[in-house]
Amino acid sequence: MGQWRGYPDGVRTTSDRQAILDADGLAAALIERDPTGRARRDDVRVVRAPGRVNLIGEHTDYNEGFVLPAAIDLEIRIAYLAAGDGRVELTRLDDNERDSFALTEERPRGGTWLDYVAGTAWALREAGLEPQGLRGVIASNLPANAGLSSSAAIELASAWAMLGDAARDVAPLDLARICQRAENAYVGVQSGLMDQFAEACGTAGAALELDCRSLDWRTVPLPDALELVVCHTGSARRLDGSAYNERRAQCDAAVAVLRHVDSSIRSLRDATLEQIAAAGDALDPVLRRRATHIVTENVRVAETVAALEADDRAALGRLFAAGHASLRDDFEISSPELDAMVEIAVSVHGVVAARMTGGGFGGCTVNLVEAGGADTLRTAVLAGYPARTGLRPMVLPVKAAPGAGQLA
Ligand code: GLA
Repeated sequence: MGQWRGYPDGVRTTSDRQAILDADGLAAALIERDPTGRARRDDVRVVRAPGRVNLIGEHTDYNEGFVLPAAIDLEIRIAYLAAGDGRVELTRLDDNERDSFALTEERPRGGTWLDYVAGTAWALREAGLEPQGLRGVIASNLPANAGLSSSAAIELASAWAMLGDAARDVAPLDLARICQRAENAYVGVQSGLMDQFAEACGTAGAALELDCRSLDWRTVPLPDALELVVCHTGSARRLDGSAYNERRAQCDAAVAVLRHVDSSIRSLRDATLEQIAAAGDALDPVLRRRATHIVTENVRVAETVAALEADDRAALGRLFAAGHASLRDDFEISSPELDAMVEIAVSVHGVVAARMTGGGFGGCTVNLVEAGGADTLRTAVLAGYPARTGLRPMVLPVKAAPGAGQLA
């Protein structure tokens, strides 16, 4: 996955990051690359799609369980002009790479970032919608390969661009499912719905609790007194499709065994720790650990929602710690870098809760920090983390943001 680099290495400060997304700058960049657009300056549209951070509920989505992500104010934007010729042509502003495809062609997967766009076009057509041609530029201040779902953001931003004004007529959750289909059937990663859901349905100031079986969801406001801080380990998320798909297959294999204990179990969402114990040696140790993570993680999601609603910081700290340990020991998708980042964070005064976030094998941690504590956390991470890992971290305070859409 993820040949999208999208985040120029020199860009470190908040104002650098905001400048990348400036809508007038994007429109100017588009017209500079396609001077025929000058006369159509007023027709330029700018769409955006946020990244996401998951507070808790990891790998539970494809087990019909519960997740608690938030869309964040690091995002991908596309400025475009509609084109009547059925070609989608995009230029990345981070490295000026330009690529295109025809909406009528059966474009095979190419192993590049354009797969997320072409896959979305394919999935939109499969859903009976009509993507349009366009000429556009694409910019991002969302670190790529960081476990913050930049690939889902490309899918959602390109869906909004290719549908034009008709995107407003598609329910955000439906658009999320179309983009998930692009990822599953075209890109070839059997991911769940969490990323596309969070990035389509995001709400300012709130996390979103999704029941991945019924698809019912609700917003869970984040306490005003807590800041959300993402710490990037500086190690690319090494989640290739195969490691992810392997975890998913192990969960399915565990269900097949647990059905002998209770035939009503349809997914790990239905299982309990007692049933895992009752399966005995029929469940080999690896499958037992995978199932244990999913069962305990679903409980942690409900408890985290309750702790956020009660602003119970001690409980939040315990739940994030238990979630991290479960991902490290039972699901086995943490890394020495993620473990080091969490260890440093939890020793910092004002850090309420810290754990790895997203698919695993590198990428980022998510931290809940008392107001004003982000600078203390940054200082501690910059002082302690490079010496332990030899890597250059990034500490990114973020805010829960609205889902994808067109800029006014
Ligand atoms: C990736 C997938 C999601 C989810 C997470 C782990 O981000 O795209 O569907 O499974 O990993 O929680």
